[in-house]
Amino acid sequence: MSVNLTNPLFEKLGMKYPIIQGGMAWAGTGALAGAVSEAGGLGIIGTGYWHAEDVRREIHRAREITDKPFGVNVMLMSWHIREVFDVIIEEGVKVVATGAGDPSPFIDELHAHDIIVIPVVPSVAMARMMEKKGVDAVVAEGMESGGHIGSLTTMTLVPQVVDAVSIPVIAAGGMADGRGVAAAYMLGANGVQMGTRFLATNESEIHDNFKNAVLKAKDVDTIVTGELIGNRARVLKTKMSKNFVKKERELISQPALTPEQREELENGTLRNAVVDGDKDNGAFMAGQIAGMIHEIKPVAEVMADIWTQAESLLNRK
Ligand SMILES: Cc1cc2nc3c(=O)[nH]c(=O)nc-3n(C[C@H](O)[C@H](O)[C@H](O)COP(=O)(O)O)c2cc1C
Repeated sequence: MSVNLTNPLFEKLGMKYPIIQGGMAWAGTGALAGAVSEAGGLGIIGTGYWHAEDVRREIHRAREITDKPFGVNVMLMSWHIREVFDVIIEEGVKVVATGAGDPSPFIDELHAHDIIVIPVVPSVAMARMMEKKGVDAVVAEGMESGGHIGSLTTMTLVPQVVDAVSIPVIAAGGMADGRGVAAAYMLGANGVQMGTRFLATNESEIHDNFKNAVLKAKDVDTIVTGELIGNRARVLKTKMSKNFVKKERELISQPALTPEQREELENGTLRNAVVDGDKDNGAFMAGQIAGMIHEIKPVAEVMADIWTQAESLLNRK
């Protein structure tokens, strides 16, 4: 079997490495995304529940660091997405990644502005639907990932999505070194997206408590919150996340959360982790691969090391 390492989409963007830094609400700032793009990957600014002006500020911060293209991730559960899309278009951003929902209503509009659209998909059905709607690539994200997750693993999801669609498939979830990336290529992916690995970099602006928690995490140190309320997210085990899971049984017997309550809960708890490093009230979103991350490094070194190792594994005769 020969592995195809070319990806016309990435070539068009002038990327040196087929590595995307996945959008991360609060954690994926303009400084991190700018540094990743400048070093030859594709950085993506996470927007979560942010308003337009926060997004514009981070786009400008990324531009101070790089002239290369970067992307903006729109978390479709947010109800500020219209104003966020407007800023993305006004600012001439080149790539939009979407998470936590169906971006169909926005695809034609984004394409009309020459914006590449890459949704994150948790299933074959969603990948097929996105291809039909004309997206440029999909990110097939397994449940090993940090943040909001589906129910399939990367190992099972990626090859099934690869078989189902003809557009490029980018694998996400559970990669932090060249072995994982080489494995993703063996499954048929045309590139990879990582989130957790980029949390532990010099350019990541998350609170030191968060960085240290990633470094300290062992293989079994993440937990999935929101299982019972239909909003699964992988976070590091803390007193808070463990209590949250216990309390979910009580939560489901209460009336459903309003959009405002959900925003306050999610946005607030992630902000508490990223900005304040608050171990009692923060949601420290991170993936299962955190257990393999022991060192804070510059993003350029992270990507160079990973790709050197991946290429050498993939070229083995
Ligand atoms: C702190 C954190 C926040 C995240 N926020 C988002 C988000 O706002 N939108 C999104 O599409 N994905 C989000 N993700 C998922 C990442 O973009 C990426 O797909 C995922 O981290 C890949 O898996 P890995 O963590 O195993 O590398 C987040 C991940 C983390 C760790």
